[in-house]
Amino acid sequence: MSKCGYQGDKTQVALQDTKQGRNDLFAGIPCRLRAKLVFMAGQNIILGVSGGIAAYKTPELVRRLRDRGAAVQVVMTRSANEFVTETTLQAVSGMPVRTNLWDPQAEAAMGHIELARWADLVLIAPATAEIMARMAAGAAPDLLTTLCLATEAPVVIAPAMNHVMWSHPAVQENRQKLADHGVRILGPEIGDQACGETGPGRMMEPDDIVAAVMAPIVVANVEPPPLAGKTVLITAGPTREALDPVRFISNRSSGKMGYALASAARQAGAEVILVSGPVSVTVPDGVKCINVESAQQMFAATHEHIEGVDIFIAAAAVADYRPANSAEQKIKKTASEMSVELVRAPDILASVAKINNGPFAVGFAAETENLRDYARTKLDKKNLDMIIANLVGENLGFDADENAVEVYWRDGEQSFPMTTKSALAEDLIRLIFERYLEKLTAATQTALPAIAIRD
Ligand SMILES: Cc1cc2nc3c(=O)[nH]c(=O)nc-3n(C[C@H](O)[C@H](O)[C@H](O)COP(=O)(O)O)c2cc1C
Repeated sequence: MSKCGYQGDKTQVALQDTKQGRNDLFAGIPCRLRAKLVFMAGQNIILGVSGGIAAYKTPELVRRLRDRGAAVQVVMTRSANEFVTETTLQAVSGMPVRTNLWDPQAEAAMGHIELARWADLVLIAPATAEIMARMAAGAAPDLLTTLCLATEAPVVIAPAMNHVMWSHPAVQENRQKLADHGVRILGPEIGDQACGETGPGRMMEPDDIVAAVMAPIVVANVEPPPLAGKTVLITAGPTREALDPVRFISNRSSGKMGYALASAARQAGAEVILVSGPVSVTVPDGVKCINVESAQQMFAATHEHIEGVDIFIAAAAVADYRPANSAEQKIKKTASEMSVELVRAPDILASVAKINNGPFAVGFAAETENLRDYARTKLDKKNLDMIIANLVGENLGFDADENAVEVYWRDGEQSFPMTTKSALAEDLIRLIFERYLEKLTAATQTALPAIAIRD
């Protein structure tokens, strides 16, 4: 039994299972949080690795899953061996890797049916076009596809392939069939590919896969998560300001930071509304997403949903200016020169910060220079509660998977060094929540009547 008195089966299994090194998980973790972690610690994940170039990312994926407390049994296809070694995956997973359906020794230890029953989740990453075809056809010529048929656990795949392969009608038919069979499909993302081309087909990053499959499950006998009962509205991505029906002015925002914040806020228990410009990032589970294009649409959608919101985070890169007029028909190439008149786009953040008794307002400042001065000026001018500032430029901030930020509030500041956007988002949500609570406490104390103290 655990010292904090939680007596669920999974707790006992986790605390006694020293073979998996799971006891280390509890070092330094307050008692009230342990039960929640224990629940995640009990998850058994079969990680299927098929023969795509993105297999080189799987050792990292195994580590991230184990960091979150899962036991990971790797099952590789024969082709996967060409891209990543069994030795590496065995070392990082701490379990012998399974590759062969006809391995008498492995079958004697845990037969494929027992393995299929052991799993709480079967995750295949990367999933090749070939394995998707086998799974869609219900074929089972190897261990991994046999497990997919024999398990009652949810099956999740993260496809990865060249973008032309991904767009092929046969692959798309298989994707649809698998979705119809209840397989959850993560990504793929649009981006640079190993073949040197760009397009949809990149495997989702390990961090994002982990966030998608391992959102903490809240069990009845643990304290509610910190943001339970709170509503957080987050804007994310770029806006597009139309010049004509086919052209627009936009910026380099990928939306990754805003989406990572939405995922972290959701995991902390909040109701999350995401108002998003056009991006190619997957909406986190349990998050309500409203898709918009222009700054004007983002302004309208934000104000439509702002009532009752506790925390507002403006992570979108909203256009400061928009064309004064948008042509109804495509502008033709007739004049030798042309100029575009721009007018101010609505300032969504300032408008929300002005609301009487409005939400705790957090802004973002992406600057190429004088980060501290510009960010503090914006904090004061817009009367924000907090501002998160980062330098942007080549390989910094926009469209990157990692970020480093400085956070400022009226009487304090904190630096967050370079890390993945999902790890950063978890830290930022924690800090935002602390500052939000502090503001609430201060407001309550001011509202109390003064009591005269006499000797
Ligand atoms: C260098 C190289 C890279 C490959 N990368 C991919 C890939 O990223 N995605 C994919 O679907 N197939 C890729 N293939 C093709 C698969 O390896 C091939 O279809 C194989 O039969 C897949 O088998 P499996 O699904 O059982 O692992 C690649 C092949 C080679 C030679």
